[in-house]
Formats: sequence, C-alpha cells, structure tokens
Amino acid sequence: MNRLDGKVAFISGAARGIGAATARLMVEAGAKVAIGDVLDERGRETAQTIAGASDAATYLHLDVTSEDEWTTAVAATVARFGGLDILVNNAGLFLGKGVEEASLDEWHRLCAVNLTGVFLGTKLALPALRERARQSPHGSAIVNLASVAGLVGSQLDPLYSLTKGGVTLFTKSTALEFARKGYRVRVNSIHPGVIQTDMGDQTFLSRARNLGTNDVDAARRLALSGHPIGRLGTPDDIARGIVFLASDDAAFMTGAGLVVDGGLTAQ
Ligand SMILES: NC(=O)c1ccc[n+]([C@@H]2O[C@H](COP(=O)([O-])OP(=O)(O)OC[C@H]3O[C@@H](n4cnc5c(N)ncnc54)[C@H](O)[C@@H]3O)[C@@H](O)[C@H]2O)c1
Repeated sequence: MNRLDGKVAFISGAARGIGAATARLMVEAGAKVAIGDVLDERGRETAQTIAGASDAATYLHLDVTSEDEWTTAVAATVARFGGLDILVNNAGLFLGKGVEEASLDEWHRLCAVNLTGVFLGTKLALPALRERARQSPHGSAIVNLASVAGLVGSQLDPLYSLTKGGVTLFTKSTALEFARKGYRVRVNSIHPGVIQTDMGDQTFLSRARNLGTNDVDAARRLALSGHPIGRLGTPDDIARGIVFLASDDAAFMTGAGLVVDGGLTAQ
C-alpha cells in the first residue's frame, strides 16, 4: 500500500513541518522529491537529511507567490528527476487575527501565499503532470493542503478560513476541469486538525490572545480538548494521508477532501 516507486513529487513549503514530513515519507515510499521553500538553509538541511547518501531529495528556492519562480522550480525538477507525477501545494500562512484587527496588507499576504500560491502551482506544474500522466497507468496527482478551517468556521482566524475554504472548492473545481478535459490528473485536498508544527504553535498564541491571557499552555490544552481522539496531530499523521492521496491506491479519488483531524469536525 501507498508505494510511490518511480514517481517524482514536488512539495511546496517543505523545509519544515507537514511538508518536510511528507517529503521524508514519500522518499521512504520510493519517490524522488523536490522541496521548494523560501527558508533556503532549513530547506537544504531537510533535503540533505532525507536524501542521506542517495539523490532522492533536492531543495529548490521557491516563493509560491512568484510565477517566474514556479516556472523555474518545475523545470529544475523535471531536469533533475526526468518528470513530475505529484504536486503537493503545502506552503501556507496563518494570521491568527480577527476581522477588526487584520490589515489589508496582511490579507493580501495571506491571499498571495494560501490562494495565489495554489493557483500558480497547479497552473505551472500542470503541463509536466499531464505529460507524465500519459505514460502512467493511473495518471498524476495533486494534493492541496486545506484545513478543518476550510470546512467549518474558524474561531481564531476568519481570513485564514476564507483562504482555506477557497482551497477546498478550487480542489473540487480543478478535479472536475481536468477530468472533463481528459488530463488524467487527480486533485484532492487534505484537512488537518491542529498539528504540532510552527504553525500549530502560532494557533496556541492566537488562542491565548483571544482568551486574554499569556498562558499558551492553557490555550494548548483547550485546543487539545477539542480533539476527541485525545491528542493533537503530528506532521506524520498528515503526511501519511498525503502519501495515500498521491499514490495509485487513491486512483479512484478525485475532487475529494480527506479529513485528518482526530474527530474535531465530527462534533
Ligand atoms: N499546523 C496546523 O495545525 C495546520 C492545520 C491545518 C492546515 N495546515 C496547513 O498545512 C500546511 C503546512 O503547514 P505547517 O503546519 O507545516 O506550517 P509551517 O509553518 O511549519 O510550514 C509552512 C511552510 O511553508 C513555507 N512558506 C511560507 N510562505 C511561503 C512562500 N511564500 N513560498 C514558499 N514557502 C512558503 C514556510 O517557510 C514553511 O516552511 C499549510 O498549508 C497549513 O495551512 C496546518
């Protein structure tokens, strides 16, 4: 199950967190992986650690808001690994402010990374994904990182929720468009609960602020109490779901959202 032998993946925002865990699990599953991020030093270290003595992972600088940088990164991935089967649109920002506190500049930044980044990645990786899909039994795959905040309202960040709701429906719309056009490129989204990453820490700070306290541990406990399964998520919990969606085991899935949230949105 969940093997990616012979496949090539590009993962945005994979210097750390969920993206880095996904890169590691994809290499363990037999894929070659290119990591794109703006954190160059961290990204290079992550790629080196994952690759070890092999050539299975590489780092490429990529700001997902730049069309030129996407074009360069996709071309470099194809030149290095011979094609592209999987795109994971993972790079994302969390703001953690209410509507009244957020500025227009902050909204534009959030929008540029969480929405424009996903649009550009999809558009500019599509030719390489289509090309590879012609030779592969089950085609190519895109996995978009949405969130539980793209399914239900967010207590903490209405603007983040606005962007992730967009990712949820862009996923379904592109799945339909590519199927209609016969491209053989599946598109699915994944919806994590609260995951222990730098972004997860940011949500605890924002939750503490909402409670009018500096007690981040109390905010963390409150977040945990919302997850019926009794713990917060780990990057590997989400990475396993992404590997599944990217693999041929999910060959009959497109336009779907995989919820990996410890029961948070089942309530
Ligand atoms: N952590 C959570 O609780 C959680 C929950 C739901 C969804 N998500 C989503 O999962 C994805 C990964 O989040 P994470 O928790 O690993 O966060 P993280 O902050 O640890 O990692 C995000 C990565 O994206 C990169 N990034 C930011 N802006 C970029 C840009 N312009 N170009 C390229 N890279 C950029 C960062 O440098 C970082 O490496 C995000 O899309 C996030 O919204 C996270």
